[in-house]
Parts: sequence; C-alpha cells; structure tokens
Amino acid sequence: MSGCPNDTLRIGLLGCGAISQFAHLPALAKARGVRLAAICDGAEDLLQTIGRRNGVQRLYTRYEELLGDSEVDAVLIAAPDPFHVPLALEALQAGKHVLVEKPLSDNSVDCEALVRAVRETGLKLQVGCMKRHDPGIAYAHEFIRDRLGPVFSVSGWYRDTSFRPAIQETLLPPLLNSAHSVRPRVDPKGDRQRYSLWTHSAHLFDNLLFLAGPIRAVTAKLARLDERFSWHGVLEFADGGVGNFELSVKVNEGWSEGYIVHGAGGSVHVETFIPFYHRPSMVRAFDASGALSTTPLGEHSNPFKNQLEAFARAVREDLPPSPDVYDGLAVVRIIEAVERSVTSGERIEIPPTVRPTDASR
Ligand SMILES: NC(=O)c1ccc[n+]([C@@H]2O[C@H](COP(=O)([O-])OP(=O)(O)OC[C@H]3O[C@@H](n4cnc5c(N)ncnc54)[C@H](O)[C@@H]3O)[C@@H](O)[C@H]2O)c1
Repeated sequence: MSGCPNDTLRIGLLGCGAISQFAHLPALAKARGVRLAAICDGAEDLLQTIGRRNGVQRLYTRYEELLGDSEVDAVLIAAPDPFHVPLALEALQAGKHVLVEKPLSDNSVDCEALVRAVRETGLKLQVGCMKRHDPGIAYAHEFIRDRLGPVFSVSGWYRDTSFRPAIQETLLPPLLNSAHSVRPRVDPKGDRQRYSLWTHSAHLFDNLLFLAGPIRAVTAKLARLDERFSWHGVLEFADGGVGNFELSVKVNEGWSEGYIVHGAGGSVHVETFIPFYHRPSMVRAFDASGALSTTPLGEHSNPFKNQLEAFARAVREDLPPSPDVYDGLAVVRIIEAVERSVTSGERIEIPPTVRPTDASR
C-alpha cells in the first residue's frame, strides 16, 4: 500500500454522530491493519470531545482539510444518506479510498455518478453493509456459493422492534449530541415511511443479494398503521429462483431477522441479531449430499470491526471490496423498485447492475 507505514490503513473519520460513537469508533480502536488518523465534524464541540476521548490530534471542522491531510489514506463517511455520494465523490477526487455508510445514496442516479468515479480513479469504495462481515452470514454466503447449486426458493425478513431504543440504551454508552451538527436541508427522518424503508431495507436487500444473487423484478405491498409499516413482496432472482421478503418497522416483539435459501444441493437457515450485540448469526447449513447439517462458530463477530479489516485488506492486497459500489447501486435500485411497486401496484423490473470484470478493483 503506497505511502502507508507498516501497511496500516490510516483512516479519516467523517462524522461523530450516533453510528460513529456506537460502532465505528469502538471498532476502529480494535481493528487490525487500520488506524484512526484524523476526525472531521462540522460541530466543533462534538469534534473536540470525541477527539480527546479517542486520543486523536488531527481534528478538522472542514472536510476539505481532512481530504488534504497526507496522513490520511482513506475516509470513513458516517454522515446522513443524502451526503454520501457528494462526500464520496470529493474523497475519490482527492485520491482517498472510501468506506461509506449504507444506503449508498437516496437515489440511483447519484449512485451511477459514483460508479463512474470509482471506475475512473481505480480507488476502492466499500459500502457499510457490515452484516456481510458477520461470520455467520459470511459462512452462509460461501456455503450457498460452493454447495447449494441453483437456488430456487429464498426468504428474508427483518422486523425492527419497538423496544430497540431501550435495548440500545442498555447496551450502548450515552450519545453525545451537538446543536451545531451538519444536517441535510430536508431532514430524511421527517418522512417516516421513506426513512424506515431506506435505512432498514438497505441491510435486508444487501443480505439477500449477497446470499442469493441479483434480483431482476419485485412486486410489493405496504400496510401502514400510524407510524408502523410493513412491506411484503415477491422477488424474482436473475438466476430463476423466486423469493419473498418482509420489512416491518416496528413490531411489538423482539427483533427478528433471518434468511432461508433452498437450492438443489441443500438449504441454509440464518438467524441474525441486533448488530450491537456483536453476536454472530446462527446458521444451519444442510448439505443434501451427506445429509448433514453444519453450524459454524463465529469467533470474531463484531461486524463493524470485521468490515474495517476487510476494507483495509481490499486496499492493501488490491482485492474487490465487499459490498462494492455496484452492490450499493443494486440495493438502491431494489429499494426504488419496491417504492414504485407499492405506488403503482405493479411488478417492477430492476435494471441489471453491469459490473465490468475489471471495474470492481
Ligand atoms: N450500518 C448501520 O447499521 C447503521 C446504523 C445506523 C446508522 N447508519 C448510517 O450512518 C449514517 C450516519 O448516521 P448517524 O445517525 O450517525 O448520523 P448523525 O446525523 O447522528 O451524525 C452525522 C455527523 O456527521 C457530521 N457531518 C455531516 N456532514 C458533514 C460535513 N460535510 N462536514 C463535517 N461534518 C459533517 C454532522 O455534524 C454529524 O455530527 C447514515 O447514513 C445512516 O444510515 C448505519
């Protein structure tokens, strides 16, 4: 890795908000092969406190200063969704690799511009769908790829719980806020229906893509009860399989998230937990040839730490990041198709995401 002492990827963190305090900063303190070199946040008070707590001296209120810092190899963008693409484009133009929070954007047109920039610069861009780096989901992905053969039936469900604020308050340190935080002109959380779909289904659809492959069409319905939403839909996979999904926000019971994939060679069941537990997904992988089920043990199971290590490896060893900019675009296109199907009542075809063989590097 050019210009990186000891092969350590020097990360500049953009954003000291909730996800950085709860997940990225603790993960940066532990991840191997990365070092938190600098932090940027427009809220000076928050920046100074977070910098002091994390022993970081290179603190910037302006993003251009972070991007101009030659001690920074890559940026981790932990800012609201509408900022993802503009901030990622600036970083690539400044020669920095990018790890950007999910969803890649709040619209697919902007994602396409980012795809072009990744292709042109040859820099790495990884999307923060960290569940791929949960060892249970990673195992399920490999088992499906290597042992299942053609997939014909897929289910995915993700039910956020009404009790999440209480669970998070129990698990996580108190959140530091600032009155000076940089916010989008229109608050994305103002439209609860849209926000609930985009923020949660980015994980659900990324996992479905990762486990069962590209999706070519969707037919979806939405039920709404005050501030509660439930999307259900039928998914047509590019390889011929069919699937269904449910996204419910919020249910009056515990969190539940899972995936079931059936193929010619067996089946895989995945049960996934709130990521802040750092508990690996429970997986039962059935191999029909030996009539045997396997349940792996997930040792290093903090998905936020694992995604950082995978990102550093992708940069260091010139590997394709996972998920990459094409996966991020594919997820945004599925979400847009779900919205269109709910509005029109029709089956919506999803444009295929074309990945040039050399462009994911
Ligand atoms: N991976 C996950 O499971 C997960 C969970 C929660 C949130 N997220 C994602 O993380 C992202 C951030 O969410 P959050 O709740 O932490 O946001 P937040 O609004 O709490 O924090 C964002 C911070 O970034 C700073 N900021 C934004 N733009 C800036 C700029 N141009 N220059 C300097 N500072 C800037 C703000 O001042 C703020 O402190 C969202 O995209 C969200 O979808 C991911």
